[in-house]
Amino acid sequence: MQQRFYCGKIDKTFIGKEIILYGWVHSRRDHGGVIFIDLRDREGVVQIVFQPDKKEIFTMAEKLHNEDVIKVKGIVRKRPEGTVNPKIFTGEIEIVATELEILNKSKILPFEISDYVNVSEELRLKYRYLDLRRPEMLNNIKLRHELLTLVRKFFVNHGFLEVETPFLTKSTPEGARDFLVPSRLNLGTFYALPQSPQLFKQILMIAGLDKYFQIVRCFRDEDLRADRQPEFTQIDYEMSFVEEEDIMSITEELIAEIFHYITGKHLSRPFVKLDYEKSISQYGTDTPDLRYGFEIVNVTSIFQTTQFKVFSSVISSNGEINAIVIPEGASFSRQQIEDYIKFIQSCGGEGLAWMKFYSKATSVTQQFESNIVKFFTEKELAQLKEKLNLHGGEIIFFCAGEHKKSCKLLGMLRQKIARDLNIVANNKEFKFLWVINFPLFEFSDEENKIVSVHHPFTAPKKETEHLLNTDPLKVRSRAYDIVVNGVELGGGSIRISNPQLQRQIFNILGLTENEIKTKFGFLIEALEYGAPPHGGIALGFDRLMAIFLGCDSIRDVIAFPKTQKGVCLMTNAPSVVSKKQIDELGLTIKTELKG
Ligand code: AMO
Repeated sequence: MQQRFYCGKIDKTFIGKEIILYGWVHSRRDHGGVIFIDLRDREGVVQIVFQPDKKEIFTMAEKLHNEDVIKVKGIVRKRPEGTVNPKIFTGEIEIVATELEILNKSKILPFEISDYVNVSEELRLKYRYLDLRRPEMLNNIKLRHELLTLVRKFFVNHGFLEVETPFLTKSTPEGARDFLVPSRLNLGTFYALPQSPQLFKQILMIAGLDKYFQIVRCFRDEDLRADRQPEFTQIDYEMSFVEEEDIMSITEELIAEIFHYITGKHLSRPFVKLDYEKSISQYGTDTPDLRYGFEIVNVTSIFQTTQFKVFSSVISSNGEINAIVIPEGASFSRQQIEDYIKFIQSCGGEGLAWMKFYSKATSVTQQFESNIVKFFTEKELAQLKEKLNLHGGEIIFFCAGEHKKSCKLLGMLRQKIARDLNIVANNKEFKFLWVINFPLFEFSDEENKIVSVHHPFTAPKKETEHLLNTDPLKVRSRAYDIVVNGVELGGGSIRISNPQLQRQIFNILGLTENEIKTKFGFLIEALEYGAPPHGGIALGFDRLMAIFLGCDSIRDVIAFPKTQKGVCLMTNAPSVVSKKQIDELGLTIKTELKG
């Protein structure tokens, strides 16, 4: 086979050589009897010159349109003085064409192949093959490949074994709905596509593989957002005979290596560790963005005997008064404040109190400005000034209510204000942290029962294990989440390796003996045959890339993503299937659902 060269890789070392190139016509310019074609392939563009003395191919070249696919033979030469383009790799040379073959013509394009064209995302997804020709997208996909290679090498170098696990399987509960696949050979039964390979990787530890990794597709039927796809890729790994620190340390090493590859910079390690409770109290979320302050402060103690009814009634029902301070926020207009109040209400809050603080006035009562200042004593205001360390020019927002709810609302407001003030957009730092000491369980209002905060295979902290039956909501877990700039990048834990304990957890979660047997009997049984202590984690690979590249959505780092409605606009999946297929699976579709 003749050696093939990429258009974007031809430089002055080729001068004088005859070569053959294949590619897409990126642009055509007719210049005083000479035709210039920018020929493009995945590595870049190169300039081809068609001269009128080669009449036959010159006439063919005159009719070329953008995105036609051609084969060109020609001689590489140095570009004439003054026409060198230092911005591109091939900018010092051009190829004088001697032969031309048109391999395929292109229709008029729905959009130009350029990073600077403003096209709707729907159109980009419908014509994804054209969108992927744009340099920005092509580079994302190339980088994705390079990072996958890096990750694979990283684990191989650390002694991990790559093992594939089934896609047609039983579901592992990871908090989302399953995608189900009906079985033709066992009518009436279903496989679930894995939400994660959680149980298989644990079983691999029981099998004695010691260190496992997989770059694996996971499937979750959940409401989609910018950072959620129904199928996404995890970097999934598990190790035997380890503690939390071992998993955290190897994860930091991997992330630092990826970060260095992309940015050339070093991340400072170890990453910060933040207690779950502290994360909720200070930031109102377990995925805090540490690029800015505005931390939540609990000011309940100041208002124990307040005359202000909104605060006193909340305090008397064991609630809290929490506050955030925005420096220079005193300049917010009434309209801006009204908008923030409406925002809190749209998030399910009842209201938002506020005060502006000016340092100039002499008495403390006059330093505060708000419609509610009149309800507070001088002492309360003085204490507030001290506790919040006010200097002048700030606005304080208060949210009164039950601890978690009030913190959550202020946490959302904190994020919104940071975005509105462009603090986030202007800050290119990456603030990594571990959130630790999660509760093992939480009460789900939706399901009206206790559910796992992570998944039911997460080990409880030894020192809280005695509370399992008496006060399960107080039990802490051995889970750890890795968070960067307000996004959950990954989560993992040390697992339960004791079958009795695993059974006890299922019982607490309300599973009957029969459910335990049918859903997780194989796991309990496997744990009975000598399970090593083990733990692991999974990182969201699409999220990791999107964050490092500054993309607004993970769709920009996935070759063929789906829309918010779970649709592939290129293939139109999901789609109706034939009656024969439905019948073979023993299914009937309710008539009212038929499209
Ligand atoms: P978890 O459910 O936290 O853990 O998932 C790990 C990471 O996967 C990413 N992720 C997603 N990315 C894109 N679209 C989605 N729909 C989506 N859902 C999750 C997130 C998340 O942090 N088996 C456990 C891991 C373990 O315990 O080892 C698990 O899957 O970045």
